[in-house]
Amino acid sequence: MPRTATQFDLVIAANRLPVDRVVDADGTESWRTSPGGLVTAMESVMRGREGAWVGWAGEAGDAPEPFVEDDMYLRPVALSEDEVAHYYEGFSNDTLWPIYHDVIVSATFHRFWFASYEAVNRRFAEAICDVAAKGATVWVHDYQLQLVPAMVREMRPDVRIGWFNHIPFPPVELFAQLPWRRAILEGLLGADYLGFQRVADAQNFIRACRQLLNLPTKGDTVSESRSEGARRVRASAVPISIDFVGLEELAKKPETKARAAEIRESLGDPETLILGVDRLDYTKGIGHRIKAYGELLEEGRVSPPKQMFVQVATPSRERVDAYRDLRNEIEGEVGRLNGEFSDIGAPAVQYLHHSYPRQEMAALYLAADVLLVTPLRDGMNLVAKEYVTCRYDDGGALVLSEFTGAFHELHQAFVCNPHDIEGLKQTIMRAIETPDKEKRRLMRAMRRRVADHDVQRWAARFLDNLANAPEKGGS
Ligand code: ADP
Ligand code: F6P
Repeated sequence: MPRTATQFDLVIAANRLPVDRVVDADGTESWRTSPGGLVTAMESVMRGREGAWVGWAGEAGDAPEPFVEDDMYLRPVALSEDEVAHYYEGFSNDTLWPIYHDVIVSATFHRFWFASYEAVNRRFAEAICDVAAKGATVWVHDYQLQLVPAMVREMRPDVRIGWFNHIPFPPVELFAQLPWRRAILEGLLGADYLGFQRVADAQNFIRACRQLLNLPTKGDTVSESRSEGARRVRASAVPISIDFVGLEELAKKPETKARAAEIRESLGDPETLILGVDRLDYTKGIGHRIKAYGELLEEGRVSPPKQMFVQVATPSRERVDAYRDLRNEIEGEVGRLNGEFSDIGAPAVQYLHHSYPRQEMAALYLAADVLLVTPLRDGMNLVAKEYVTCRYDDGGALVLSEFTGAFHELHQAFVCNPHDIEGLKQTIMRAIETPDKEKRRLMRAMRRRVADHDVQRWAARFLDNLANAPEKGGS
C-alpha cells in the first residue's frame, strides 16, 4: 500500500479504532490499545492486509487526522459529547446491549438516543464510502453499526458489504421490544452477508425478519423484499477466535514464563491459583462467581493462602448507571470477603481494576491453575480461548459457562450454569481437584480446537462467505 493511498479494497468499520487517543493533563497525546475482544481479534486479522479501519478514537470532540499504523490506514470518526452520551452510552450500551444479552438489566428506550444512533451510523457510512475503492469489500462490525449496511448500499451499490455481530442476537420475543426493530432489520438487510457467533443467533435474526417484517426466508437466507427476484441475504454462524500462533509465542517467551513464576511467588506460591479476567460488565457473571467463591470460603473448602483468587475487572463504560452500580456491588462484596477471610499477606480475593499489556495477561494465564469464565450471556468470550492458547504446557483447568459462544467449541471445559450457585461451587471444586493427568488430556483437546480454528481461519471463512453471498435474485 502506498503510504499516501486513501482508497482501499478492504475497509472495516467498528465503533472503536484499534487504539484510543489519550490526552494527559499537560496536553501530551498518546495512543493505547482499545478494550475488548473485537479489537484483539481484528487487529491480528488486519495486520499485513493493508486495508482501512474506520472507527472512533475513544474521546469526544474533533476527530484526529487519519494516520497509518501497522500498515493499516486508520480513519477516525468524530463523536460529540452528546453523541458519546446518546449513541454510545445510551442507545448502544443502555438500549441494545441489555436487549441483546437476555435483559439481565432492563433496557432504556429514548427516541433521541435512536436519533443520535442514526446520525452517527450515517457518519460512519459516509466515512466508509470515502475510503472504499470501487468494488471494495466493506466489513462492518457489531451492534453499534447496524444501520450502516443499508446506508452504504444506498450510497455505493458497487461495494460488497458484510456485517459481523460480536455479541448474541436476541430471540425475537426480546428483539420485538425495540421500538426501532424494523429500522434495525432493514439496516442489516443492506448487507450481502451477515455473520453471527452461534447458529442460534443467525436463526434468531432470520426468525425476526420472517415474523416482524413478514419477509420470505429459506434455510439461512432472507429475501430483502417480497417482490420476485428480490436480493437474498445470507445469515450464518462463523464463531470468532484469536491469534493462536502469536499468543502462544508470547506465552512461551522466557520473560513471560519468568513473570508467571513471579506472580505465583508474590502470591505465596499457592497450591491453586484461581483467576477471573473480565470487563467489569453485568453480563460476565462476576457477582455469581464471587458469591460461589464466598460460600466455598465460608464452608472452608477453599482458604488463602492455599487457594488464592485473583479477579481482574477491566474498567468499562463507567458513565452508564448499570455499570456504576455493578462496580459498587462487586467491590462491596470483594471488600466483605476480604474483611472476613483474608490473612495478612493472603487476601481472600485479589481484586485488580486495571488494564494490562498483553504479555502480562499471558503471564497471568500461564500462572493460573483454574480460570473462571462464568458469563450469564456472552457472544464468544475470547478470554477462555486465550487461556487455552497460553497453556502450551497443557496445564490448567477452564471453568466455562454454558451461556458463552465458547461453550459450543470448548467441549472439554468444566461446564457450569452460573445461576446455579451450588452447581458452580461443585464445578469449581472439580476443576481444582481433578487429577492433573486428566486435566492435561482435557486441555490438550481444547488447545487443538483453538489451534485449528484460529482468527485467521475465522476471517477467511467470513470473507469467503461474503464473496460467495447470493447475487441479486440468486439462491
Ligand atoms: P469482551 O469483548 O466482552 O470484552 P472477550 O472475552 O471476548 O470479552 O474479550 C476481552 C479481551 O480483552 C481479551 O482479548 C482480553 O485479553 C482483553 N482484556 C480483558 N481484560 C483486560 C485487561 N485488564 N487488560 C488488558 N486486556 C484485557
Ligand atoms: O464485543 C462487544 C464489545 O462491545 C465490542 O464492541 C468492544 O470491543 C468491547 O465489547 C468493549 O466495549 P466498549 O467498546 O464499549 O468499551
